[in-house]
Amino acid sequence: MKLTHDSIERNVALLVILTVLVVSVGGLLEIVPLFFQKSTTTPVEGLKPYDPVRLSGRDIYIREGCFLCHSQMIRPFRAETERYGHYSVAGEFVYDHPFQWGSKRTGPDLHRVGGRYSDEWQRAHLTNPRDVVPESNMPAFAWLAKNPADAAGVPDKMRALRKVGVPYTDEEIAGASKLVEGKTEMDVLIAYLQGMGIELKGAK
Ligand code: HEC
Repeated sequence: MKLTHDSIERNVALLVILTVLVVSVGGLLEIVPLFFQKSTTTPVEGLKPYDPVRLSGRDIYIREGCFLCHSQMIRPFRAETERYGHYSVAGEFVYDHPFQWGSKRTGPDLHRVGGRYSDEWQRAHLTNPRDVVPESNMPAFAWLAKNPADAAGVPDKMRALRKVGVPYTDEEIAGASKLVEGKTEMDVLIAYLQGMGIELKGAK
């Protein structure tokens, strides 16, 4: 059989096989180089792995589904950079496993929310968003202030992250639980929010 446009289009099985082949090759050519490109694998200047407190807060962020309403991905468009600050770059996410880019924005993007408000504002907002933003439809997360953060679990989380390339040292892991002990889930979540996107905060 001669492979002409006509014969391929008339043979469904052949069309499916060749389509999958073309999409796979095209996809691999686009995706694989990203694993090796410096700009996607080198941390931006000043970026450090999450300390145990922020790491615990990040897990609360994921558990509570904050990502369902908030993205962490400022796009390189004027409307975005005027509102949120410098657009997000890949080198800011090298220690994020999994990253929280998201695409659903019921609320604003949070990538550069670090330092935008005081800890007290964040606490009031999480306890009842409408106390500080009357028109807000964000749910309240008041109970986080009553739950102790999971101090015992942090070393294991850090060990798991080390396996995928986050450079935690043995000393950091050994001292991790102590740093989280006595803090509430709200404390650690606020610490996470306050550290978000600060490396490129002033960048133009
Ligand atoms: C149902 C959707 C929804 C969920 C879930 C949600 N938010 Fe929000 N969030 C919003 C909306 C809408 C706003 C804008 C109004 C306001 O400031 O309250 C907002 C605002 C914020 C702001 C202020 C951002 C700024 O730049 O002014 C922060 C910080 C925030 N949310 C954190 C969180 C965290 C942390 C969680 C998870 C514990 C969370 N949100 C879960 C909808 C949501």
